[in-house]
Amino acid sequence: MTKQELCRKALDMRLMSYAPYSHFPVGAALECTDGTVYTGCNIENASYGATNCAERTAVFKAVSEGRKAFKRIAIAGTTKEFCPPCGVCRQVLSEFAPDMEVILVNYDGRTRELTLGELLPCRFGGDKLK
Ligand code: THU
Repeated sequence: MTKQELCRKALDMRLMSYAPYSHFPVGAALECTDGTVYTGCNIENASYGATNCAERTAVFKAVSEGRKAFKRIAIAGTTKEFCPPCGVCRQVLSEFAPDMEVILVNYDGRTRELTLGELLPCRFGGDKLK
């Protein structure tokens, strides 16, 4: 899948968002190393802390179907500003792919590319538990 197609999927997933409290739809498209793509959207809750971000929705869908090797993720917000992944999502993504590519997409399709290592340096990983 091209970068543009992955970004389009992330942008389109905003339509599936359930965000009645923030009114801030977010979409994500996660590409695995085998080429499969899992999409996600944010799913809010009246108990705000129970909200799930778009990125984690995509990761949990992928892992629950047996995919744990991730190549890149596109994340689309609804504003002119980019929507970088929150700290919890950075940590969850880093569990599986600490150096994956992260593509931020703004509302009119402009992109910014980073690595997860740049977004989460000095991460806490499973190796620290040994
Ligand atoms: N949100 C995401 O889906 N991903 C992020 O990385 C940042 C925040 C969602 C959570 C909540 O539904 C809304 O954006 C406002 O915080």
